[in-house]
Amino acid sequence: MVSLKQAMHIEMFFDKDSNTFSYLVVDGATQQAAIIDPVLDYDAAAGAVSTEGADAILAFIEQHQLRLVWILETHAHADHLSAAHYIKLKTGAPIAIGEGIRKVQQTFKVIFNIADQELTAKGDYFDHLFADDERFQIGNLEGRVINTPGHTNDSVSYLIAGHLFVGDSLFMPDAGTARCDFPGGDAALLFQSIQRLYQLPDATPMYMCHDYQPNGRELRYLTSVGEQKQQNIHVRADTGSEDFVQKRTERDRTLAVPKLIYPAVQVNIRGGQLPAQESNGTAYIKIPLKNTESLMDG
Ligand SMILES: [Fe+2]
Repeated sequence: MVSLKQAMHIEMFFDKDSNTFSYLVVDGATQQAAIIDPVLDYDAAAGAVSTEGADAILAFIEQHQLRLVWILETHAHADHLSAAHYIKLKTGAPIAIGEGIRKVQQTFKVIFNIADQELTAKGDYFDHLFADDERFQIGNLEGRVINTPGHTNDSVSYLIAGHLFVGDSLFMPDAGTARCDFPGGDAALLFQSIQRLYQLPDATPMYMCHDYQPNGRELRYLTSVGEQKQQNIHVRADTGSEDFVQKRTERDRTLAVPKLIYPAVQVNIRGGQLPAQESNGTAYIKIPLKNTESLMDG
């Protein structure tokens, strides 16, 4: 068994279907831990969910006799389903996300025509909504929430004992930044958010949520504020807002809709819970149809 007695231990888990990194952050002194962005396995064609990825994290927690005190989401993801609710069922730990989730819930409540009884869009399904700059504890480790909207309205970064978890605000330097063309996305806002992160010390380690291995290079999940400021292909220390917005907007025009956006968003705005079962006991994912005018009567 790995010893987790040092002051802080960060264990990375990788979901290869969605290229997502999840992290378990452990306070060695108290054996308390937080999980960031856990993934629920999902076979879209079969509509089948499964929990191998989350179970591997739970097994690690059990093996090392850790106490999970937070399930942290960096934002409502559009590319994978969150295992937050499943992990909460297994551990009792609270699920937290940035308070911008209310806006994201409202946006998608309209898009998916979700009834008030199922979603009020006031942060329901989450146990705690973080305000900007809010502090929280993982045992003796102090965490700070930095609001970093732009990719989505609810995006936050977590700075935990000097280690920065940025969600999708930044990718590795050779991949740049995440798209800003989802409902509520805003490239100018993402630029401002990145400036906040770039004010942290250059040596600050920065952990990615995704890596798509550009040009076939090896998988990477760790960089630093300084490395990003020098090398990020979209935003370096001296990049201006207009420059970035133009580059980001042009790139977004070329991107396809993420394969799992409809199932992912419907589950993730509910903190990883599936939509309510219908009268036959089955839960369904909706897909809004577009360009339907020519098929309508009258
Ligand atoms: Fe995302």
